[in-house]
Amino acid sequence: MARKRKPLPESELLIGDLSHDGRGVSHLDGRVVFVEGALPGETVLCAVKRRRKGIFEGQAVEIIDPSAHRVEPRCPHFGVCGGCMLQHLDYQQQIKAKENVLRESLKRIGGVEPQEWFAPLFDNPWGYRRKARLGIRDVKKKGGVLVGFRERKSSYITSLRECPILDPKISALLPALHELISALACRSELPQIEVATGEDAQSLVFRNLIPTTDRDELLLTRFAKEHGVNLYLQPGGIESVALLWPNSPKQLTYEVNPDINISFSATDFIQVNTMLNQILVSRVLELVDSSKKGVIVDLFCGLGNFTLPLARGAGEVVGYEGQQALVDRAIENAKQNSINNARFKTVDLYTKEPVAIPAMGQAECLLLDPPRSGAREVVEQLNRQSPKRILYISCNPATLARDAGILVNEKRYSLKGSGMIDMFPHTAHVESIALFERQ
Ligand SMILES: C[S@@+](CC[C@H](N)C(=O)[O-])C[C@H]1O[C@@H](n2cnc3c(N)ncnc32)[C@H](O)[C@@H]1O
Repeated sequence: MARKRKPLPESELLIGDLSHDGRGVSHLDGRVVFVEGALPGETVLCAVKRRRKGIFEGQAVEIIDPSAHRVEPRCPHFGVCGGCMLQHLDYQQQIKAKENVLRESLKRIGGVEPQEWFAPLFDNPWGYRRKARLGIRDVKKKGGVLVGFRERKSSYITSLRECPILDPKISALLPALHELISALACRSELPQIEVATGEDAQSLVFRNLIPTTDRDELLLTRFAKEHGVNLYLQPGGIESVALLWPNSPKQLTYEVNPDINISFSATDFIQVNTMLNQILVSRVLELVDSSKKGVIVDLFCGLGNFTLPLARGAGEVVGYEGQQALVDRAIENAKQNSINNARFKTVDLYTKEPVAIPAMGQAECLLLDPPRSGAREVVEQLNRQSPKRILYISCNPATLARDAGILVNEKRYSLKGSGMIDMFPHTAHVESIALFERQ
């Protein structure tokens, strides 16, 4: 039988750094300790909760000497809800901490350093999230239905009555959603809702594991009418999403420069931060310099978020994307914006075999915006005919750093510049941009 370890006594610790996931870092008995709720420079009383793989994980139970950068979290659910990790840190320091994560990842994982550090991109850190997946649980012991984000490091749900990082239109719906779901017969078989808001429409997609009763549909329809939202049910996979109300839903749209209107659905991938996306698109246009009228290849292009603005200045832009539904949406978006120099193709960019990308040979610039797992399969296939310039947008500094290492150390590109983009304020997520040029 495994011997149960004696719990360690609470210890006073001086915190040195902030980890990539927003915890304070210190040392205890020769091991690294990650302390939730602690900030660099603070002395805290730490209760060790777990020991694994030679490290300790703990919780700050008392802040003995607080940091000058500690602030009161705005959200009443902070500390329990897994949505945010950094609300207790002054916003300017959050930006510095994330820049540091990017710098350290590039150095430690990729062995590279940019020739220039771009100024960080950020905007209002509140009310920015226009799309979210909210979990639902019906827990008798906790008084019924819970609607919200997962708790930190657990599968429980934090019951949210408000959320200051959500778009205020979505946050304002939370109490009414709670009431609605509590009244539904199918409530224990509703694991989640996707919520999305556009310029002048909102959509909710309810994932229902069992069929809804007539009374449930009546309640759902009444809710949708009262709040003026499009309401969908999703009884199976993504293809099963079906409209419940109204008969002609208002289209979700968002705008990006220069004067492009993008249509999307609640289940499509979109950049969640409205303002930061606009700022990021403008920065991409500057760095790619699409005014040269050449060819640009946009890999992992989604519904055309960068492809379409780039097409306004470029000779031609070719977007590649794995999801057919997003490619269809991109083609439709090009048509609606009268853009006829953007082409889109559905391809799996993660195959081991080289993917045929004919436009690559003539392209002046390659744009990469992969998921968290990065773009190793693509960068490993680059050769002397590949575009001279690569602009890489990343939502994971570790995979960006790995791919930057390949580009610089094996493919003869230089890392001209890199910078942090605060797409997800108060969370530990680090989005970034990196510009490469072939030597
Ligand atoms: C970070 S998103 C970027 C989307 C788009 N650039 C935007 O700004 O909205 C990554 C995209 O990669 C796509 N993707 C994921 N796996 C893929 C694969 N194996 N092949 C091609 N595209 C893939 C996703 O569908 C998603 O649209």
